[in-house]
Amino acid sequence: MKKVRVAVVGMGIGRPNGLALANNPRAEVVALCDLVEESMADFAALLPQPDEIRLYTDFDELCRSSEIDAVFIGTPNQLHVPMGLKAVAHDKHVLVTKPLADSVEAAAGLVEAAESSGVANMMSLSTRFSAEVQYLGGLARRGTFGEIYYARARSIRRNGIPAWNPGFIRKGGGAFRDMGVHVLDAAWWMLGRPRPLSVTGVAGAKFGPRGLGFFGRRTPDKVAAAPESYYSQFTADDYAGGFIRFDNGGALQVESFWASHQPGDLQIELFGDEAGAQLRPPTLYTNGPVPASVVDEAKEFGAKPTAGRGLNDEGRPIDITFEGLTKERSEAWNAIAEHFVACILDGTPCEAPLRHGLIVQEMMEGLLKSAEVGREVRLESGKDG
Ligand SMILES: NC(=O)c1ccc[n+]([C@@H]2O[C@H](COP(=O)([O-])OP(=O)(O)OC[C@H]3O[C@@H](n4cnc5c(N)ncnc54)[C@H](O)[C@@H]3O)[C@@H](O)[C@H]2O)c1
Repeated sequence: MKKVRVAVVGMGIGRPNGLALANNPRAEVVALCDLVEESMADFAALLPQPDEIRLYTDFDELCRSSEIDAVFIGTPNQLHVPMGLKAVAHDKHVLVTKPLADSVEAAAGLVEAAESSGVANMMSLSTRFSAEVQYLGGLARRGTFGEIYYARARSIRRNGIPAWNPGFIRKGGGAFRDMGVHVLDAAWWMLGRPRPLSVTGVAGAKFGPRGLGFFGRRTPDKVAAAPESYYSQFTADDYAGGFIRFDNGGALQVESFWASHQPGDLQIELFGDEAGAQLRPPTLYTNGPVPASVVDEAKEFGAKPTAGRGLNDEGRPIDITFEGLTKERSEAWNAIAEHFVACILDGTPCEAPLRHGLIVQEMMEGLLKSAEVGREVRLESGKDG
């Protein structure tokens, strides 16, 4: 059986992506790349046949290898595009972590290069590929909610500013490009990817520049005190919120907080004229009756509907919560790996091409721009592929 030979770049988020690719029967991880050799050695030890995995500290050298078909790019935001351009120039298929880039211009350049080269190009989106989002998005596509005319999406942390890589807290990083991007992408996808027309937003940094609200991914309890030499580099947002209008009359309210005096939360709410939904726990709100297909499909996702409140046949409100839909994070990474491999080996049309990353980037940068200039920003292209 032909296998896709993958190189994984960046030993942070590269780990879950790399494990999923290594576990896929039609892919093998043949190379790793990072500036830190020990990180590569640690991770290689977790993979099948570690001795046969090539370790690169020089990405250009990796790109020149004819033994590599595809590259996962998981370096800090500012490097996604320069690395993606090099990989594509060497005819490597690319899987890129979110956000696609640190600016719209950079994102557009990579999309153009990837599309014209004809390689498979895909975003690695762990929220979009989660079972809850896939299930509710599937219901949305089949019309269960009727017209979805409004949505809310939020991602809130109490003390959640990354304390391990200054790439996060400098220009081009920030809370919205780190976390807001996930719920923005997932909500936009569930809405059916309408064309964004305009955005208005606010953003700022209330905790990070004071050295407050940081966490360490590998520190006990994830609490970390950032030294002044680190937090003095803070030039990004640690919160952002805004409102996006679409060409179909719909709208999305979106928020992300890296740190706040609020409980942590990740939520998406859909307002449809036939039914509504929330993501966590996955719940459907309707005046009933609930179509049998909704329940059947939940079962296909391994979930079972739990009895809702006011469940009756007389047009009274019905809420159904689906138990079992929320899966391990690893399932989303596996789904991403599976789809990427299918795009390469079977020519399956990509469900999450880099072009989607570009449109999300436009909304995101528009929101941050609006915050800077203090007024609504029109979005020029918003064209979907
Ligand atoms: N759920 C998700 O999809 C998710 C979660 C976390 C992070 N991310 C994304 O992953 C990216 C990295 O975040 P992270 O948390 O893994 O950061 P990280 O700092 O843990 O890892 C980045 C790695 O890239 C390496 N690196 C930096 N420059 C390099 C270069 N020139 N060549 C090779 N390697 C280089 C660093 O040494 C480091 O090991 C960010 O864009 C972030 O948005 C996605």
